[in-house]
Amino acid sequence: MRILGISAHYHDSAAGLLIDGLPVCAVEEERLSRRKNDAAFPLSAIEWCLDYAKLAPEDLDAVVFYEKPMLKFERILTMALRNFPHTWRSFPRAMKNALGEKLWVKGIITSQLGVPAKRILFTEHHQSHAAAAFYPSPYAEAAILTADGVGEWATLSLGRGSKQDGIELLRELRFPHSLGMLYSTFTAYLGFPVNEGEYKVIGLASYGKPSRANEVRKIVRRTKDGAFSLDLDYFDFHAAARRSYSPKLEETFGPARDPWEPLDLGSSDGMRFADVAASVQLVLEELLIDLARSLQQETKLEALCLGGGVALNSVANARLLRETGFKSLYVPCAPGDAGCALGAALWADRMHFKNPHRELPDHPYWGPAVDEDLGRIAREDGLPVLDLPDEAALVNRIADELAQGRIVGWMQGASELGPRALGHRSILAAPQDVAMREQLNRSIKYREEFRPFAPAVPVEHARRYFELPEGGERLGRFMSGVFPVRPEFRERLKAVTHVDGSARVQAVEEKTAPLFHALLTAYGERSGIPVLLNTSFNLAGEPIVNRSIEGYSTFRRSGIDLLVAGRTLVAKKEAA
Ligand SMILES: [Fe+2]
Repeated sequence: MRILGISAHYHDSAAGLLIDGLPVCAVEEERLSRRKNDAAFPLSAIEWCLDYAKLAPEDLDAVVFYEKPMLKFERILTMALRNFPHTWRSFPRAMKNALGEKLWVKGIITSQLGVPAKRILFTEHHQSHAAAAFYPSPYAEAAILTADGVGEWATLSLGRGSKQDGIELLRELRFPHSLGMLYSTFTAYLGFPVNEGEYKVIGLASYGKPSRANEVRKIVRRTKDGAFSLDLDYFDFHAAARRSYSPKLEETFGPARDPWEPLDLGSSDGMRFADVAASVQLVLEELLIDLARSLQQETKLEALCLGGGVALNSVANARLLRETGFKSLYVPCAPGDAGCALGAALWADRMHFKNPHRELPDHPYWGPAVDEDLGRIAREDGLPVLDLPDEAALVNRIADELAQGRIVGWMQGASELGPRALGHRSILAAPQDVAMREQLNRSIKYREEFRPFAPAVPVEHARRYFELPEGGERLGRFMSGVFPVRPEFRERLKAVTHVDGSARVQAVEEKTAPLFHALLTAYGERSGIPVLLNTSFNLAGEPIVNRSIEGYSTFRRSGIDLLVAGRTLVAKKEAA
């Protein structure tokens, strides 16, 4: 059975293909369209998936959309009416922003793909998140927690999954009460773009003290049934499409940060923002831990699968693993909406068509393989090209270069699904010096100083350098947890150690990423520590590179010294 899953029209559109119960390929639209966080109907992603599997649209048994547009429409309409007349200005805008083409999804799929309407299915948004989080996990049974901004109505759902009997969502929390919205609202208040700047809030939180946590706790109150509710006096997102927080939030926490002003952590305002970030982060963690802990007590299950955009909060994830009574925690490589493309397809396969479960390969590399054009492109541009004879030669050469302080753009195999570069589309560098971090920030990533860079380490050596709790390696596979760097190594891992001594570790398995694993090992033989700084291969504001032409263009426009695609190596003239 061939099922195509689609997520679109909100943020991070994607398509993924499932054949006979197993994922075959998946990619975010932005990687192909080259528009960051592309939310358009993912025609290029769909086309690529079908091409990859050599299928025509009519070969598909089902096309599954990752949420129910009518329910979403109902939510927007209801909220608008509830807040009338306050909303009469914003309503048309909300309709346009949140719905756009969404209501007409069936028509779009039918007309664009020529798939008959009867083969088009819709899952609920949190069903897609739950399936994306549970089915790829290694557990026969697990509790499931999904949390995001909002789907149709649900913003958080609690449930349990069994590979044999399927997923049961037990409870949900509904809009406007939403952990994702809470975090996004403070993201906007702190002057960062919503849906992208949440990482910055996490990074910034480490510089502050949660001295404002009590004020945040007043905004998000626990309810008797174990859930929580937002005090809507502080928010505006439910009523207006333009701004997410109300004047009351600024009265409480002081004036919001101007996005155009640099954030100066040496100033009192800068520290105020860091404290607010730390406070929101702490309250989010507390709520998640509470919810997960009661889910553990209720289900008595040992494993938890976490989905939805909130699961990208790696600091909270690490605490969930340590403090909720679950022995292990699984976060998929794409817990956000992009992962819902495969999630929706999995839900349809197991829950709608009732196909038996098959164990899924557990890796993030579902996108297009790197092409072989780099040599030609670089030669045409007059740069020296080296084709290395085999993988051993490649690994040794690149390990040498990294040990000499070079910054390497590294493209290998199929691209990652989800927001993180996990060694197939990565910029790599030595992890020792702060100077390296500064150089990367200045000449490549052009990003704020307070955002840390992440280390990658072979999984078998992870505990030597990082303090991992039980289950930490699994969480580290997709860089989903932040853990302390062992104090004795912080000095030698300065470029990847955050201000609070932590790091967002990627624990690399030989089985999943053999070449990247070999490179880390070879680098360790040269430097004494098999750890590399690994950051996504893109410039600020651009999607992660996909084809070698994009890698080459990024390489030319930035301070990357060497570019590798497959076994082809290109150096800038001065480095060569
Ligand atoms: Fe979502």
